[in-house]
Amino acid sequence: MIVAIDGPAGSGKGTIASMLAEYFGFKYVDSGLLYRKVAAASIWAPSVDLQDAIYSMDFSKDVLRSEEVGARASEIAGVPQIRSLVTELSRRCAQNIGPYAGVVMDGRDIGTVVFPGATCKIYLTASPEVRAKRRLAYINRHGSGTATYEEVYENILERDSRDSSREIAPLTISDDYVVIDTSNEIPKESFSRIKKIVENIL
Ligand code: C5P
Repeated sequence: MIVAIDGPAGSGKGTIASMLAEYFGFKYVDSGLLYRKVAAASIWAPSVDLQDAIYSMDFSKDVLRSEEVGARASEIAGVPQIRSLVTELSRRCAQNIGPYAGVVMDGRDIGTVVFPGATCKIYLTASPEVRAKRRLAYINRHGSGTATYEEVYENILERDSRDSSREIAPLTISDDYVVIDTSNEIPKESFSRIKKIVENIL
């Protein structure tokens, strides 16, 4: 059983996906993190090959979650060779799930490209203003760099536009997605709505 959670930056995918994984006893796979690892390597270790960037490089969580790496990830995510490698790895992550009962994977193209046959497809969204505020709160909480609200807001708009307009695997939805707007909700409220949707499908 695969639950696909797609949506733009700051829509709450990671938080909700982790909560769902914990509740249902599923494995959580953050596909954005794989793009972020390649992005970080392209900044600080450009000569490292793609597989090594993902498996061997050891960047801290704060570095990987920084705005700089997020922006670069969105740039390199349009490169066909990188996309096919990360897509392949994401699929492999969902094969060997050990004791888990299923998989929750989040990203931009999980329900459209990586697992078009996913059991349940959720598209999380929120207004750009709310998403920028969430990102800024995260940066301040974790000390992952310094940024103003305006900078974060601009980054969000840029990433939205790049992620939705690229030729390969753009951020988009098909008819079988359930769209959830989290703008006016705390994570617990969104989780409780989505948990019911997943339960109905199980
Ligand atoms: O989700 P996160 O913000 O960590 O992802 C970083 C970037 O990686 C996104 O802006 C997007 O360009 C790219 N990405 C993608 N496809 C995915 C996951 C992430 O293109 N499945």
